[in-house]
Amino acid sequence: MRYFIGNWKMFGVPKSISILNKINSYYSKDKNRNKYRVIITPPYTLIESYSKYFKNKKILIGAQNCYQKEQFSSNTAAVSSYMLRSVGAKYTLVGHSDNRAEGDTDAMLKDKVRYAIKNNLKVVFCIGENKLEKKNKKTLSVLKRQLAKVLEKKFNRNNIIIAYEPIWSIGTGKIPTAQDLKKTTIHIKKVLKGIFKKNSPAVLYGGSVDGNNVEMFKEIKEIDGFLIGGASKTSKKFIDIIKNYYR
Ligand code: 13P
Repeated sequence: MRYFIGNWKMFGVPKSISILNKINSYYSKDKNRNKYRVIITPPYTLIESYSKYFKNKKILIGAQNCYQKEQFSSNTAAVSSYMLRSVGAKYTLVGHSDNRAEGDTDAMLKDKVRYAIKNNLKVVFCIGENKLEKKNKKTLSVLKRQLAKVLEKKFNRNNIIIAYEPIWSIGTGKIPTAQDLKKTTIHIKKVLKGIFKKNSPAVLYGGSVDGNNVEMFKEIKEIDGFLIGGASKTSKKFIDIIKNYYR
């Protein structure tokens, strides 16, 4: 199974559902549709209405983050996985570099993953090195540490997907070389096998993915799909990624 996940970040109002409608009609008719899943993570404000709308359709709705406590708490503006599940979310991102930069620690991320799984959300756990770490050839050790600090064997690996998003690639148009990306993805899967003592969960790539460069990514069979930011905000760009992937 391949995954095309659109992360809208701080984008979208109720009428933006027209973008998803177009993606959904492409997806529903695509002859390759059984090979992949489409998940969109709109902002919190749209999760309930979009989940209701797409309830019996192909597209799944997820959240971009969740709070590190189980159900209810006295943390102003916080939203738990329990609350997300109650309004129809099926997935949640955890550990996006935007949120790590705003203070999410490994300990907080571990609780987020734990409670998300407990509340029946599938977790898309994001990891990635920054520019300096890449320059200093620390990529593989950074990724290993990010995985080992948060994931545990007892977490149900069927509910976990990993998204490798190099920070220097997000929103910059810069992407890793095919050779580097293949090596990195194999490394991530090896680390995951070590943690879970079973086959690795799916590993996605994210960072400046578009309809053109997806041709290069599809050659790397170890990559199980994509986490797409900018190009998920217009139906044409998002559909082009899927089209060109299966071309
Ligand atoms: P871009 O596709 O805009 O580079 O964003 C990637 C990302 O951060 C998705 O979570």
